[in-house]
Amino acid sequence: MKKQLNATVSWVGKVDWELAKFHGDEYSTHKGSTYNSYVIEEEKVVLIDTVWKPYAKEFVDNLEAEGLLARLDAVIAQHAEIDHSGALPELLRRRPDLPVYCTANGIKSLTGHYHQKWDFHPVKTGDEYDLGHGKKLVFVEAPMLHWPDSMFSYMTGDAILFSNDAFGQHLATERLYNDLVDQNELWNECIKYYANILTPFSPLVKAKIEQVLSLNLPVNLIATSHGVIWRDDPTQIVLKYLEWCQNYQEDRVTILYDTMWDGTRALADTLARAITGASTSTTVVSHCLSKFDKNDAITDVFRSKAVLIGTPCINKGILTAVASTLEEIKGLKFKGKKAAAFGCYGWSGEMTKIVTEHLKAAGFEVVDEGLRALWNPDAEALAAADAWGRAFTGKL
Ligand code: FEO
Repeated sequence: MKKQLNATVSWVGKVDWELAKFHGDEYSTHKGSTYNSYVIEEEKVVLIDTVWKPYAKEFVDNLEAEGLLARLDAVIAQHAEIDHSGALPELLRRRPDLPVYCTANGIKSLTGHYHQKWDFHPVKTGDEYDLGHGKKLVFVEAPMLHWPDSMFSYMTGDAILFSNDAFGQHLATERLYNDLVDQNELWNECIKYYANILTPFSPLVKAKIEQVLSLNLPVNLIATSHGVIWRDDPTQIVLKYLEWCQNYQEDRVTILYDTMWDGTRALADTLARAITGASTSTTVVSHCLSKFDKNDAITDVFRSKAVLIGTPCINKGILTAVASTLEEIKGLKFKGKKAAAFGCYGWSGEMTKIVTEHLKAAGFEVVDEGLRALWNPDAEALAAADAWGRAFTGKL
């Protein structure tokens, strides 16, 4: 239901506590999510974004119950992805006269999804919507943050930046604001969201943030479309994005592997000990990709200066959990990270070569041709793995 942010601006979104997967099955949401929608009630009454499709009727019914539906003068569709536009068909079925303000790309995406001839009004960066009472919304196109159609809206007077996906995180909360939630949970979800969704667009993130900061606009609130609204030191998330978008890395090494008969797992465990022993400052984390969450593993890759990818050889190839993660990592376009492959084999042993090719194609600097162990590694093979891990650490 409606939650007042200030005298004229309210949250009217949906808290989705049971969301476990997002983007189909591609993104794990351990903490649920929210679809944030806002209503501004100045002389004009304006809705900013809607909610995911399954909650469309509930959302529009709530607007009606709050006496808002009949009073709306416009809807601002900042992004056409279904988690924000999903209630537009229901809204516009009940208010077909309502003008829809979005970017030119937004018209293409919304028409592509819903195949409706709504009353579209395309906007560009710098265009304004007059709210009355001396306030206005100023639009800023933000292509690829997250789709080509994305845009921000800045409300003058109240100094609210409606940022849609940017600066968001998948965190269900009824508490609305960044200072009212568990800070560890908040920042874990923020970095996971950036790592898994925004990494490929980092150059655009940097350019857009620099453009917005150069305007020197006051910002009281950053009202995202997922998770919390940033009110306590709202630019802290902007500055964090500036760190994350510039080939971010920590003194961390991530090992990603899968195993068939424990040989590659034994190598992974040995490498974790070897790197930890070789560098007292380096954090080492290891993920078995077939058993644990892929998105958490990718978040660790984002945080790392180097990755080791392990798989045994199977049918002259690599295990599927490793292959699918490498495919996803390639799309994320990580930069400035080092890498190498490892694994066990019985006869042909192409796995390190295959993984190395994937790593190079994904933009990693491969610093070693890879560690291979024939059959199940014995004490001698594990000692060799330990030495290899220490040498790898020396190359970082
Ligand atoms: Fe939250 Fe790109 O949608």
